[in-house]
Amino acid sequence: MRTFPPYRAQVVAAIPVTTREERERALAEAGYNAFNLPANRVSIDLLTDSGTGAVSTAQEAAAAAADRSYAGSDSFFRFRNALSELTRYPHILPVHQGRAAERVLFSSVLAAGQLSISNTHFDTTRANVELLGAEARDLPCAEFWDLDSHEPFKGNIDLAALEKILTGEESGRIGQVLITITNNGGGGQPVSMANLAAASKLCREHGKRIFLDAARFAENAWLVIQREQGYADKTPREVAQEAFGLVDGAVASLKKDGISPMGAFIGLTDPELAQRCETNLIATEGFRTYGGLGAHDLDRVAQGLQEVLDPHYLGARTADAARLAQQANEAGVDLVQPPGIHALYLNAGRLLPHLPPSRFPGHALACQLYLEGGIRCVELGSLYLGTLDENNELVTPAPFELVRIALPRRVYTQAHYDYVAEVLADIAKNPERVPGYRVVEAPATLRHFNLRMAPA
Ligand code: F0G
Repeated sequence: MRTFPPYRAQVVAAIPVTTREERERALAEAGYNAFNLPANRVSIDLLTDSGTGAVSTAQEAAAAAADRSYAGSDSFFRFRNALSELTRYPHILPVHQGRAAERVLFSSVLAAGQLSISNTHFDTTRANVELLGAEARDLPCAEFWDLDSHEPFKGNIDLAALEKILTGEESGRIGQVLITITNNGGGGQPVSMANLAAASKLCREHGKRIFLDAARFAENAWLVIQREQGYADKTPREVAQEAFGLVDGAVASLKKDGISPMGAFIGLTDPELAQRCETNLIATEGFRTYGGLGAHDLDRVAQGLQEVLDPHYLGARTADAARLAQQANEAGVDLVQPPGIHALYLNAGRLLPHLPPSRFPGHALACQLYLEGGIRCVELGSLYLGTLDENNELVTPAPFELVRIALPRRVYTQAHYDYVAEVLADIAKNPERVPGYRVVEAPATLRHFNLRMAPA
């Protein structure tokens, strides 16, 4: 099928164009940490797909007409209607962003010493579990560990391991099971409906609550339609509805598939739990009809949730990711297969074999993409997941040395992605000239946001 993105640019933002010297200076001043770079020194910003999507004229029209009433605003009812229609949950709470939704929900279901089980907890999700004194345990499926395999649902939870823990001696400690769709911490891979249904059945049988972290619910639904038997004729909305219907509730950042600069929600079936979350929300985020969000973002979400489920949009976005993945492969850069939608995860460890994990090949590739092309992206390897000793030397490496290239929604065109592929291909021609890095300064918590590095 021929496809094209079902939108066009009507307002544009200028992209900074910099010289190599300017980038070298900017990166050195940033302590070789992309999170410290001023955005006006970045040409193609692939740091995240969160809150970075381009809004539509319909979203801006809705935002202009937003109702800022403290209680019971029209904007809240539009937000709630969009989410009730999608999830069919009777209780919908607005929250300002995903991690706040996690905090509000988890503090109502998890106690110190309890376990949160997931296919993979995202980093803020893990942090919100651990801040409560609970333990976050990931049970990714076996296929996840083979980066090159083309298994369609490498985001699945390991059902045998889930059953083992539900029936074992730790069962009493389990406070919740949380399935992340798509699995951002696990290569952006989707979760199949069969896996979700089976996980849900196991949780029901053992009296445990199961929730979705549904930040990329529409992209997961689209990959189910493409890859899972029996779903080819369903609409993305139908598949998403089915997923929400299999569990007890969801938290979701709406900065991704809500295509909003800000926003999140908690959706629940249990009225008593919803009441506890609402009390926490009012005390810490805002009244139950805005939850820390501006009315304009309530309306941007309500409209964004309609647009994100358009098969033409999802098809064109998937094609962008697949094309860039193919260009990278042709240039000799391997990535986590099969490519998902919101990001590509480049295998830097394999591209830069002259750099041991202690010289952070993922970070080295991310820095090189910036130095050579003004492209910003982030390492997902030993710098992020490994353990360091008191001299900031790597003690335990991560299982993989990856770089995540996130694709903001509706922002960049194929021409921009061709440029990214060209820069990557240039690096791949002489990978041995890419230098390694060492850690100069690293705080104990949320290290990757704050550390300072230097070429080794
Ligand atoms: N869950 C998942 C799966 C996420 O990817 C994110 C954010 C969150 C929760 C937290 O949501 O940012 O609204 O507080 N992911 C971004 C990223 C930051 O770049 O992957 P938030």
